Amino acid sequence: MTEASVVAVGTPQSFRQSIARALEVEPDEIGWVQSATAAEELLITGYNPIDVLVLSPEVKEPDALGLAEFVGRQAPGTAIVLVRDHTWNGLLPAAMRAGIRDVVDMTQGNEELRDAVERAIVWAGNLRSLTTGGSGGAAGQKSTRGRIISVFSSKGGTGKTFLATNLATSLADITGEDTAVVDLDIDMGDVFTYFGREPAATIQDLMELGEGVDHDAIRKVGVQLGDHVWAYGAPPDPAAEAPAGEAVGKFLRAIRSDFPYVVVDASVDYSDSALVCFDLSDSICLVTGLDVVGVKHLSKALDTLLTIGLPRERFRVVLNRADSKVGLDSGDVERVMKIQVDAMIPSSRLVPTSLNKGRPVVLDEPTSEVSLAVRSLAMKFTGSVDSAEPQVIPTVVRKKFRLFSRS
Ligand SMILES: Nc1ncnc2c1ncn2[C@@H]1O[C@H](COP(=O)(O)OP(=O)(O)O)[C@@H](O)[C@H]1O
Ligand SMILES: [Mg+2]
Repeated sequence: MTEASVVAVGTPQSFRQSIARALEVEPDEIGWVQSATAAEELLITGYNPIDVLVLSPEVKEPDALGLAEFVGRQAPGTAIVLVRDHTWNGLLPAAMRAGIRDVVDMTQGNEELRDAVERAIVWAGNLRSLTTGGSGGAAGQKSTRGRIISVFSSKGGTGKTFLATNLATSLADITGEDTAVVDLDIDMGDVFTYFGREPAATIQDLMELGEGVDHDAIRKVGVQLGDHVWAYGAPPDPAAEAPAGEAVGKFLRAIRSDFPYVVVDASVDYSDSALVCFDLSDSICLVTGLDVVGVKHLSKALDTLLTIGLPRERFRVVLNRADSKVGLDSGDVERVMKIQVDAMIPSSRLVPTSLNKGRPVVLDEPTSEVSLAVRSLAMKFTGSVDSAEPQVIPTVVRKKFRLFSRS
């Protein structure tokens, strides 16, 4: 009689049903997260150990191997079964070396998949009975886990960097705690410009921050921009290759281990690094102006990000320059998006003026309407209302911890 917890990893969400069918259990007895990074989050933050992670064919091989390596360090009692929709030319040895227990070709039918998952459950169960502490979780990291708030817009010029920098400054001011602002808009980054400064690190310096690095190493590649405000970014380098999702994940986790609040100026596309950033974000602010093109972009962004499995409650909608008399209002946006607007930031001359001075408007003109609007959004992230809200653990997965008993 084992109580096993099995989590399906990777899109599409129907992969979870496929696993349930193969195991002849109900779909809600199987957990689901959208990506390898989200699975890593679950292993860090989840309350119960996970016996088996079953990776969908959509999880890319490097991500699967990266996850296996992570599991080896953080949750060695969790087994990984990799499902592919083709034969695995040459993958098996690398997979086995990385600690993946089995690679299953889905086209061979359910039986093979069921056998592989059952073998993995038995393996994990045996291992757990040998160790006293259980197999999951890296409890040590929980106490130092900061909160990541990312700011996204797929359309340029909407106020993404304005919001990210002023939100970070407000969070630092309100909480008196060190806050990091991270520039992941790698091609067009201008976080530093809003503070009248230049980045000092290279993208390699940033990506070399791996898990387990200490406070000094983290601070060394950042630039302190004010009381409790630190920025992380690199000058745009058109020749440089985009950093891999895996590296961005490690980098953000390192930053998060040293700062209670991390605000990310996210990239404008859906690159691997952007998706990893969203997987790790506790909240994602979608910013738009009140114009039809902007709202269309926002609505498409929300759809896209929900489709890949990010939970709806993670999103915040911010209308910037929301007082413009342009014929659209927040009610229209709420109707189109079927999501509540969380903040309306007025248009103000003070924004470009403060940008030209290189001083965030929330410090330069703290009592202005625009500053108060940003500050009140910041308070939603620090206030008791927001902290009661679930963090990264997706609801579908929390439910599943009752999991299936097999006799
Ligand atoms: N609420 C606002 N009122 C007035 N100007 C604004 C406001 N928000 C942003 N801007 C201006 O719009 C321009 C683009 O904003 P920015 O945040 O840099 O855009 P992006 O979304 O591309 O990062 C900047 O010049 C900024 O000063
Ligand atoms: Mg920008």
